[in-house]
Amino acid sequence: MTEQNGHALLEVKDLKKHFRVGRESLKAVDGISLEIQKGETLGLVGESGCGKTTVGRILVRLYEPSAGEVLFAGEDVHRTRGNEAKTLNRKMQMIFQDPQASLNPRMVVSDIVAEGIDIHGLAGSKKERLDRVHELLETVGLSKEHANRFPHEFSGGQRQRIGVARALAVEPEFIVADEPVSALDVSIQAQVINLMRRLQKERDLTYLFISHDLSVVKYISDRVGVMYLGQLVELADSDELYANPLHPYTQALLSAVPVPDPDYESERERIVIKGDLPSPVNPPSGCRFRTRCPQAVEAAAHIDPPWREAKPGHWIQACPCFA
Ligand SMILES: Nc1ncnc2c1ncn2[C@@H]1O[C@H](COP(=O)(O)OP(=O)(O)O)[C@@H](O)[C@H]1O
Ligand SMILES: [Mg+2]
Repeated sequence: MTEQNGHALLEVKDLKKHFRVGRESLKAVDGISLEIQKGETLGLVGESGCGKTTVGRILVRLYEPSAGEVLFAGEDVHRTRGNEAKTLNRKMQMIFQDPQASLNPRMVVSDIVAEGIDIHGLAGSKKERLDRVHELLETVGLSKEHANRFPHEFSGGQRQRIGVARALAVEPEFIVADEPVSALDVSIQAQVINLMRRLQKERDLTYLFISHDLSVVKYISDRVGVMYLGQLVELADSDELYANPLHPYTQALLSAVPVPDPDYESERERIVIKGDLPSPVNPPSGCRFRTRCPQAVEAAAHIDPPWREAKPGHWIQACPCFA
């Protein structure tokens, strides 16, 4: 899965994003390193506010990082300028959480979908542009009759298909899907996820798939990273992470995911995470999870847990309380 030049498609190195809020600094992302291989789906999970969207937006150049770097096929994405920057803007796309808010209500579907085609000059004529739009609509399970309608004429699931078509229009290589199904009914979620999986195979796409819902990322992700207060606490192959979570935070998140078997469901131990999420303006010293951790001991306040490979391919923030 690695690129011929030895690089992962994406390499993220000690990424930080600190937002100024008044006189204080909010540490939305605070030292994240990971790689995403070509053709892979990396799931990114964690409670609301832990920094997932901020990571996604930095990767696709919607935000500048405060520190750290992002390499796309070996190229530092936040240092490119001019035509190279424009090419990167085409190769990296984002699908947004709320298809209602992310589609301009005053534009018809064909103009929404063709926006990137126009910006990047990908169609030679009006006819070619329209043909491309029709083809894209069919690719995502809509039809060409939809091209002249407005976003409000569609259901939530259909609107997200329009969002997918818009992202695909510029033939990207990498897509950040930020909670793409969180606003949809559960019955519709699987359809959109299946669509994304099919497109990934057909077009050799690489995904960062963000969700606060562990059961959603499981089926689409090859690997899953778990975030807490701006940091990664665990990262492993999807099957391994779900079967063998090592970090108490991951264990707690997983214990809250309902399982289909009712007998098992009633016997299962549920780990309740106590207390509220601390503020990312003043995160706890040492292990950030210690104020809510069922296993916390005093030492956790004084040691910044190192990022360590506990088993091949299975990484954790190794806090002295459990590792
Ligand atoms: N533009 C911004 N300015 C200030 N704070 C922000 C901004 N965007 C996000 N934040 C804060 O950064 C933290 C992480 O937010 P976000 O990345 O949206 O988390 P998630 O997507 O995991 O819910 C939150 O505390 C949020 O309030
Ligand atoms: Mg978010």
